[in-house]
Order: sequence, then C-alpha cells, then structure tokens
Amino acid sequence: MPQNPVLYRAGRWQYTLTLITIAALNLLPARAWNQTQQKTPVNTHTILRSGAAIFLIAMTLFVQPAAAAGDIEQGKQLGFTCMGCHGIAGYRNAYPSFRVPRLGGQQGAYIEAALRAYREGTREHPTMRAHAASLTDQDIENLIAWISSSGDARDAVTTETAAHVAPAATCVACHGADGEGVIPQPPTLAGQEVDYLEHALNQYKDGTRSGTVMTAFTAGLSDADIALLAKFYGSQDGLKTLQQ
Ligand code: HEC
Ligand code: HEC
Repeated sequence: MPQNPVLYRAGRWQYTLTLITIAALNLLPARAWNQTQQKTPVNTHTILRSGAAIFLIAMTLFVQPAAAAGDIEQGKQLGFTCMGCHGIAGYRNAYPSFRVPRLGGQQGAYIEAALRAYREGTREHPTMRAHAASLTDQDIENLIAWISSSGDARDAVTTETAAHVAPAATCVACHGADGEGVIPQPPTLAGQEVDYLEHALNQYKDGTRSGTVMTAFTAGLSDADIALLAKFYGSQDGLKTLQQ
C-alpha cells in the first residue's frame, strides 16, 4: 500500500474500480435470485448486502478532489500533543473507561473523516473535539502524512479470517477478511484495542455516533455479538500505538 497521501490520492482510481467490482459482486446474486424465483427475498442479509453495495457505489461518486499534499515534519510537530494519549500503549480514556484507539497504520481517509467529524461536532468527545477544533484542512493533511509515515496496517499478514465469526459475515465487504481494510473510508479494525472497538460499536448502536452506515450494521447486534466481534478484530495483526 502507498504510505504517503500523494500516492494514496493517485491510487484513488484503483480503489474506485475495486469498489465497483465489490458492489457488482454484491448485487449479482440478488438479481439471479429475482430472475429464477420471480420474487424478492426480504431477509436482513440481503437488505444489508444491498445497503453495502449502494454505499460502495455512492462512495465512488463522491471521490473528493485532491488537496495539498501533507508535510510529514509539520505533522510530527503538530502531533506532539497527540502522543500524550495515542503514543502511550494501553492509555485509558478516564470516563467511560476504554483504551484510546490505536492510530498507527490507520487509513488516511478515515483519520481525515474522524478529525473533521470531531471538528464539526458531529462526533462527540470533549477532548478530541478540543484538539480538532483549531485544526485547518492543511493541518489534517500534515497529521495524516506523519501518521501514514509509520506504515500501513493493511500490509500486515492475514493470520485468521472472519469466516468462522458468524456476526462478521456482513462486515467483510467493507472491512476486509480480517478487518485489515480493503477500501479507504472504512477504518482498519485489525489490531485495534478490544475495549475501544466495543465502545465504538455500542456508540453506533445506541445512536451516540450517528450519520454513518454503521448505524444499520450494528442495529441487529447483541451484546454477545459485539463482544465477539471486538475480540476477533482486536486480536488480529494490524494497527499500532503511534511512535514519535
Ligand atoms: C487526552 C487524550 C487524547 C489526546 C491528547 C488526543 N486524543 Fe485522539 N482520541 C482520544 C480518545 C479517548 C479517542 C476516542 C474518542 C471517541 O470515543 O470518539 C480519540 C480518537 C481519535 C481519533 C479517531 C480514531 C478512531 O479509530 O475512530 C483520531 C483520528 C484521533 N483521536 C486523532 C488525534 C490527533 C491527531 C490528536 C492530536 C492533534 C489527538 N487525537 C489527541 C484521546 C486523545
Ligand atoms: C457498507 C460498509 C460497511 C459495513 C458493511 C460495515 N462497516 Fe464498519 N464502518 C464503515 C465506515 C464507512 C466506518 C466509518 C464510520 C464513521 O466515520 O464513524 C465504519 C466504522 C466502523 C468501526 C469504528 C472503528 C473506529 O476506529 O472507530 C467499527 C468498530 C466497525 N465499523 C465495525 C464493523 C463491524 C463489526 C461490521 C459488521 C457487523 C461493520 N463494521 C460493517 C463501513 C462499513
């Protein structure tokens, strides 16, 4: 995988093609079924698959224009304060208590979306809101350049796939076989802190974190499903604690 934002942007058309392919693969079985059975199967799985396909197609239509390339050195200077939490392995958010997310190797497009959401207040968290509030678009590019310079979690070797984890069947299209990420926007989950993953899934489910496709994909998950998914993705090789 490209490890700096310039290459990452240059690769967007490749991602677009991948998205179209994944979307087509998602739609084909449903069409074949319709032709042979003359009726629409209305089970949740089909609805979720179609939802995933529509989301992927929509993403191809909203590919953003390239912004100025990020500067690793400036990102590193700006990122000094981030290290106080994201640079300490196992560092905990005080209340509610969960380990802060690992950012090392996380996908640039997702970091960008997350920082913008904190900045604009659509994603709640007082400390992250405070940190993101004053960031310019260029600051965000610089931070991504610095974070991406530490590597890409998608280079990690797949050790185990989600195939045997039943509730993960619908996650694979967007998050990859073991959560290592296949397309830019959905975050890499492999190697993320287990209790952070649980916290995030619960926030989507109870609506605290809203306005994304994850609302639909967590609605039917039980507490046991969430615990199982968090443990599976968290135990894969992938994301790392940031290093200066
Ligand atoms: C005081 C501790 C602290 C500091 C300092 C801090 N963060 Fe965070 N960060 C957190 C916590 C806690 C979360 C999870 C918040 C939530 O529930 O949404 C988080 C979430 C994030 C996320 C979303 C990750 C994900 O997987 O969704 C990004 C991106 C991020 N921080 C980047 C930064 C950057 C860049 C800086 C420095 C400018 C920074 N953070 C400074 C504690 C901190
Ligand atoms: C249609 C594509 C799609 C599907 C299917 C999907 N996700 Fe996501 N997922 C996303 C996107 C996009 C985001 C980023 C949303 C945001 O900005 O909050 C995300 C975010 C997440 C996060 C937050 C990670 C973080 O760092 O904060 C977790 C955890 C997650 N997904 C787990 C899952 C699980 C488990 C499933 C299956 C039950 C699943 N997802 C299915 C697209 C998808």
